[in-house]
Amino acid sequence: MKAITKHRYGGPEVLQLEEVAKPVVKSDHLLVKVKANSANPADWHILRGKPFFARFSFGLFKPKYNILGADFAGIVEEVGSDVTNFKVGDQVYGESLKGGAFAEYICAPAQVCGRMSEGAGFAEMASTPIAGLTALQALVTHGKLKEGESVLINGASGGVGHFAVQIAKAYGAKVTGVCSSRNQEFVKILGADEALAYDQENIHHHQGQYDLVLDTHGNLFLQDFKRMGKRGVVVGFTTLKHMMQLLISAGFSKFPLAQFTAAANTEDLETLADLIRDKKVNVHIEKTYPHHKIPEAIGYIEAMRTRGKVAMVWEGAEEVEGVNKVAESITHQ
Ligand SMILES: NC(=O)c1ccc[n+]([C@@H]2O[C@H](COP(=O)([O-])OP(=O)(O)OC[C@H]3O[C@@H](n4cnc5c(N)ncnc54)[C@H](OP(=O)(O)O)[C@@H]3O)[C@@H](O)[C@H]2O)c1
Repeated sequence: MKAITKHRYGGPEVLQLEEVAKPVVKSDHLLVKVKANSANPADWHILRGKPFFARFSFGLFKPKYNILGADFAGIVEEVGSDVTNFKVGDQVYGESLKGGAFAEYICAPAQVCGRMSEGAGFAEMASTPIAGLTALQALVTHGKLKEGESVLINGASGGVGHFAVQIAKAYGAKVTGVCSSRNQEFVKILGADEALAYDQENIHHHQGQYDLVLDTHGNLFLQDFKRMGKRGVVVGFTTLKHMMQLLISAGFSKFPLAQFTAAANTEDLETLADLIRDKKVNVHIEKTYPHHKIPEAIGYIEAMRTRGKVAMVWEGAEEVEGVNKVAESITHQ
């Protein structure tokens, strides 16, 4: 099968499309024929082996796992002998943090897969796992968001942020999004009650008061969380120094601040699939690349200015057309 591989750490230039062995299904896994992927900041962190401590998991001197990619959607081709909740032919999506997704086939544990929403496109569902799970778990699992509460989402227009705005609205919250002025209209169309532009108002001086502050960008300090919120969740990462400072200062404070790495599970994936089916969440795909241009897609997202998501398809790029007309009309303005 074909796969996008890496044999050393570096930028998109160390990636190539290679012929590799098709994986063999394990007892608690699914063998999935991949139809689409999406790109996440985790892909280029793993590709570059940065921050350095990540190499203790992904290989100290060279990558332990040669096929890049976490997010996928496709069709189940084989089911492991211990798997009871999926069958051959199911349309599934999921996340593999060890990589292996940017390939014609992936063998993934059944517990990190969920059934796709009926009628949804593969690119749309492949764009959902990491970003959608992070948004859902940040707001609901860690942020304990309740109906009628207010939430500030710092970094509201990217992969995680655009899911977070829509999920928070679906759970009945009042949403204020923070993004660049170029994306204010986009964030309002996603459903935010208010969209603040960080290039027009300094967020570190913002005096709004919220029940929950979610930082997907990763530039807020503890004093920002305390000034604006009753509870905080941070998922974004600007610099290691900033994150360490934040977590150390939070450790000496009583302010409830959560930081976590999203974990894929079937239940949360199917909650997201239901939100997409019910049109409470629209997955916005800013750009779609054919599979052989995956290195270009990774290069594009490294700028950290993506509006919604970047998807990659293994065949038929036309499949993703019309996924989200409302948001697409904004993209082309
Ligand atoms: N903890 C976890 O499990 C987890 C999971 C997924 C992602 N993450 C992390 O979360 C972060 C976001 O991921 P993502 O996939 O959403 O990335 P993304 O799609 O690249 O989005 C980044 C967003 O940040 C916004 N941004 C840039 N500068 C900003 C500023 N000064 N203030 C507020 N927003 C700003 C950009 O909006 P504009 O274009 O409007 O400027 C862009 O939309 C990354 O650091 C990623 O590593 C963590």
